[in-house]
Amino acid sequence: MEALKEKIVQEGKVLSDIVLKVDSFLNHQIDPQLMREVGEEFASRFKDTGVTKILSIESSGIAPAVMTGLILDVPVVFARKRKSVTLSDNLYTASVYSYTKNETNDIAVSIDYLHSDDTVLIIDDFLANGQALLGLLRIVEQAGASTAGAGIVIEKGFQPGGNLIREGGIRVESLATISSLKNGKVEFLEEVVAR
Ligand code: G4P
Repeated sequence: MEALKEKIVQEGKVLSDIVLKVDSFLNHQIDPQLMREVGEEFASRFKDTGVTKILSIESSGIAPAVMTGLILDVPVVFARKRKSVTLSDNLYTASVYSYTKNETNDIAVSIDYLHSDDTVLIIDDFLANGQALLGLLRIVEQAGASTAGAGIVIEKGFQPGGNLIREGGIRVESLATISSLKNGKVEFLEEVVAR
């Protein structure tokens, strides 16, 4: 997605060979126009898959997920990372280890919002090691629902998550895939989009 790549080049800050900071439009401040385009792109790529629900994870997955849900006209549910006083015991849960943060989070979704007749599209901001996505897939599995695939705003193609998930037979659509962050420079993998 060209508008997204331009934004990454203009505003992204390469913090190291593996970390890209995009706080100005995705992870802290949010660019709603760009997020709308992101939602339209995901909606277009998954329009024929019978999606009945979007599943994301707090916090930065929510903006692109809501925009996609708006266009596809389906509800959006996000996994919570912390125990909430209003979240009951009736939960689907998964443990997610973050290599980046070296910590494990239990993520949870209420059984009220995912059902066995749902076809779920997972949306998240970054795909790095794939652990968050694996956790979300485990939650979909616990619900007995099916998965249309995953829409990722930025995939770091030089980390193993993308291959791991695709090798598991899951369709992953990334709007910008970064092939390298070496020498402070963002390089993209050129993608072929089948329509
Ligand atoms: P994984 O889920 O693919 O295994 O990723 P990992 O554990 O390595 O990443 C943990 C967190 O760091 C996730 O956010 C992920 O989105 C984010 N992240 C990973 N690599 C980058 C990067 O290069 N740049 C930025 N900006 N974020 C990255 P999170 O903890 O869930 O945070 P948030 O959604 O609350 O913002």
